[in-house]
Amino acid sequence: MGSLHGQVAFVTGASRGIGRAIALALAREGAAVAAAARSKPALEELCGELKNFGSRAVPVCLDLRSEDSIRNAVAEAVSLLGPIDILINNAGIMALHKIVDTPTNVWDEIMSTNVRGVFLLCREVVPSMIERRKGRIINIGSLAGRRGYEEQGAYCASKHALVGLSKVLAIETQKFGIRVHVLSPGGVLTDLSRELRASRGEPEDSTEWITPEEVAQAVLYLCTQEGAAMTDELCLRRFASEPWR
Ligand SMILES: NC(=O)c1ccc[n+]([C@@H]2O[C@H](COP(=O)([O-])OP(=O)(O)OC[C@H]3O[C@@H](n4cnc5c(N)ncnc54)[C@H](OP(=O)(O)O)[C@@H]3O)[C@@H](O)[C@H]2O)c1
Repeated sequence: MGSLHGQVAFVTGASRGIGRAIALALAREGAAVAAAARSKPALEELCGELKNFGSRAVPVCLDLRSEDSIRNAVAEAVSLLGPIDILINNAGIMALHKIVDTPTNVWDEIMSTNVRGVFLLCREVVPSMIERRKGRIINIGSLAGRRGYEEQGAYCASKHALVGLSKVLAIETQKFGIRVHVLSPGGVLTDLSRELRASRGEPEDSTEWITPEEVAQAVLYLCTQEGAAMTDELCLRRFASEPWR
């Protein structure tokens, strides 16, 4: 029996990239998975795969920019799978602009998806965790939440804000037995980083980039951490990058 058997996980951004790999890893460990994003066909295809592991899996339409969509998505997941034990706030977007060239709508879109959406989703899910004195939240940050990167002003601001949100959520929920982790990867091979790699002239199939499956392994580690030890933040840098940066 898998280490997450009997647990219900809600994974945002599950339609592709890191979120998809996380959903697969959690299902392999026996969790029931609500796979959430905007692209329903991709979620349906994924859930078909998750069911091959014997996992209960449901596709859930979610647009993190909409409060109503978040409320409906959580209600749907809970009604189909039961209360959420593990919340993975993974969905996120980025755009490359110097701060002086960043259009206001791009700034708003990034903050709305990467920070406001996480806040709203936590506000929807955490009360039931508090009631049940049980829960785990993993917020997928980024090394851009620890330092600045040129042309990533809005993205860096959003990921720094996510760390602040996570710190306060951890302080406010620890007494109820809830564990809040931030997982901060460096460059991962996905659609999101493709634009970045292209702008730097890096090869498409670079072997130096972290794979989504490696991030998912780190999520599994955090999901199964119990007892006296607690990891507030786990950083994953590319082995080829500079140590301690
Ligand atoms: N790739 C990297 O190098 C890297 C490094 C560090 C951290 N991260 C972080 O890892 C997370 C996942 O990134 P990724 O590389 O896997 O990106 P990705 O391949 O572009 O996937 C992004 C996911 O977020 C979902 N999403 C986007 N906007 C949404 C919205 N408004 N509502 C609901 N879902 C939305 C997308 O689904 P739909 O389009 O179907 O809605 C998709 O499933 C992000 O938080 C990112 O900041 C990535």
